[in-house]
Parts: sequence; C-alpha cells; structure tokens
Amino acid sequence: MHLLFRFILVLSVVLTSALRTLDSDQELRDSGFGRPPPRHGLKLLVWYVQNCVDNNMLALCHPTKGEYGFHWFQNRGPRPLLPPLKDKKQYGYYTIGNLNSPHARDLPYEVRKYYNHSNPLTNMDRVLVKYNHNNKGIGEIYISAHYKEKETYMIGPNLLVSLRQPTALICMEM
Ligand SMILES: *[C@@H]1O[C@H](CO)[C@@H](O)[C@H](O)[C@H]1NC(C)=O
Repeated sequence: MHLLFRFILVLSVVLTSALRTLDSDQELRDSGFGRPPPRHGLKLLVWYVQNCVDNNMLALCHPTKGEYGFHWFQNRGPRPLLPPLKDKKQYGYYTIGNLNSPHARDLPYEVRKYYNHSNPLTNMDRVLVKYNHNNKGIGEIYISAHYKEKETYMIGPNLLVSLRQPTALICMEM
C-alpha cells in the first residue's frame, strides 16, 4: 500500500506540469517575459487580451481559422509543455506570435515592428490559449518564450483583469 502510494505520488509529480502562474503586474515584469524590445511578447499579450477575448472569455479572434497566424499546438512529447487535455475533441491548444507565419502580417504594427528574420530574439515569444471548440470559449491563456518550460507561464485571473486596462502596456513596460 505504502509503495503504491509513493508510486502515485511520483507519477502525479511527473504528470503535473510545473508551470507557474503569474497573477500580478509585478510578477509579469519580474518574469522578464516579452521585453524589452526587440522582443515582442509583452505587446502581443496585451494586444491579444484587449482585442481577442471579450469579457466573458469568448474568442473574438478565431484560432481554428488561422487568424493572425494562430495555429494548432500539439502539446505532445514525453513532457508536454501544457497540462495534457482530457477531451481533445472539445478542447485544443492554439499558439500565436510567430511573426514568420502568413497571417501574422495582420497583427498590429506595434507588435511586428522589431521583427528581424536574422535575429531569433525578435520572434521567440508566444501566447497560447486553450480553446473550446464547442462554445468558442478561451479557457486558459499562457505565455511562453519559445516553448521552454522554464519560460512558460499561465496568466492568472488578477493579471488578466490588469491586462485589460487601457494603460496596461504603459504600466508593464515600466
Ligand atoms: C537583424 O539582425 C541581424 C543579426 O542580429 C543584424 O546583424 C542586423 O543588423 C539586423 N537588421 C536590422 C534591420 O536591424
């Protein structure tokens, strides 16, 4: 019994993603995500939150249609980056931010302007979302510096509220 318990404990540690949640302006700033320029992640995140989800977390930009360069994120491998999805019909992860993808041209100039094909730093940041195909709802929002586990975070509810403020970008860039 004891052994079984330990096995389950180890298994749950392995299966539980170690992702941190950022839930305040300060935590986002301290994470170093997406800034300073030429990184584009912070601008991308603020733009996404303010333009692509409504107050009820319904998607206004459609991940499945590839808008703004959105594409499906597999989340596979021995250590999936994001928490594994139980129902893969209803839910999918989608990623946005690759400035090299065709529809990324539709992103605002502010987000794209430092892009330099020869400098990987300018294209390393992503926003990932858990999308509900049935009701077009956005579950979780994640940010990631090129899918590295240690530089991937979930956006908490308080930070989300803060990012919706019109002054968010100015505050976060300070
Ligand atoms: C693009 O990045 C490369 C490599 O860092 C650099 O040499 C070049 O000057 C950059 N070009 C522009 C237009 O900033």
